Amino acid sequence: MVRAAILGTGSVAPSRAVTNRDLEDRMDTSDAWITQRTGIRERRIGLPTEKWSDFMLPACRIALETAGVGPEEIGLIVAGTMTADMRMPSGGCVLQEGLGAVNAAAFDVSSACSGFVYGLTIADRFIRAEPDLKVLVAGGDMLSPWIDWGDRSTAVLFGDGGGAAVLAASDDPDRGILSSRIRSDGTLGRLLTIAGDGSQLAFGDKPEMGNRKIRMIGAELFKVAVRSMETVCGEVLAEAGLTDEDVDIVVPHQANLRMIQALADRFGVSMDRVFVNVDRYGNTSAGTIPLALDEAVRAGRVRRGDVVLMPVFGGGLTWGATLVRW
Ligand code: UT7
Repeated sequence: MVRAAILGTGSVAPSRAVTNRDLEDRMDTSDAWITQRTGIRERRIGLPTEKWSDFMLPACRIALETAGVGPEEIGLIVAGTMTADMRMPSGGCVLQEGLGAVNAAAFDVSSACSGFVYGLTIADRFIRAEPDLKVLVAGGDMLSPWIDWGDRSTAVLFGDGGGAAVLAASDDPDRGILSSRIRSDGTLGRLLTIAGDGSQLAFGDKPEMGNRKIRMIGAELFKVAVRSMETVCGEVLAEAGLTDEDVDIVVPHQANLRMIQALADRFGVSMDRVFVNVDRYGNTSAGTIPLALDEAVRAGRVRRGDVVLMPVFGGGLTWGATLVRW
């Protein structure tokens, strides 16, 4: 059986760090509230002169270098993002040009925070159908231009950043993606939106600027997110014939430390088997899992043979999980 293995990862975030104390000066919030309710201590916010590809291109280059794969060997680029440099060309095509990945087809997947896991799932299916294919999956967002700095309930949560992974068919039948599932529920889309930025606006209408910003019904989303991720984790494990005890490390979506703890709790996995970096990056949307995975690999927390579980949840609503033997 052909399995898609992750050969290399890379991640980059803009260099400007914004701490909770910095936010205290801008809005009615406190370091204590943010830390206790979310676990976030700082996040990276790109400068007004920076754009998505300024950090995504270097992240992809690191992933290719780590994998030992040249850009011209890549046959497919899947970019999980909703905040690429411009509406057209796609972020995938911008990455293709910047990398010189002349033989790749490229496109974006717009599934909010779930973009990277959606991308891994697409890569898995493509590689199983075309075992010679090498795929670059990028995941990352630059949400800072859509943050309403007057809305403390969302402004403290998000940051910019992302990462990438290079996948190819594995020679070792035990290594690679064991199971990967994606899910959506558009009926609950209203819980997390950036609404006033699309074709629903009548031609010539000037939307309220507020509609162009992130809006979230956080407490409701929290419950749906934990429940959905728990269910899909059970599904990917069952499909692989494994149980939670077989998981060496969980690299979850980094939206909120309490959410990660609640998921670990319900799932029966102790926090020493969970990788967390939400304290340093906040919620980077499609960037959270590739940023965390790359850091976990480089820190030696993910080793060859380890079973890695990556659950995600985001706007849409969308969610999913990828289970990999490293
Ligand atoms: O990546 C996509 C997935 N993301 C999610 O699913 C996010 C899930 N939700 C969450 O992470 C949490 O719901 C939040 C962190 C967004 C909010 O935490 P919460 O414990 O659910 O707080 P809350 O919204 O119920 O607000 C509690 C209180 C409110 O005050 P009152 O009404 O009790 O007086 C808020 O006004 O906290 C207040 N509050 C703040 N206070 C200081 C909200 N934001 C802030 C803030 N600083 N930044």
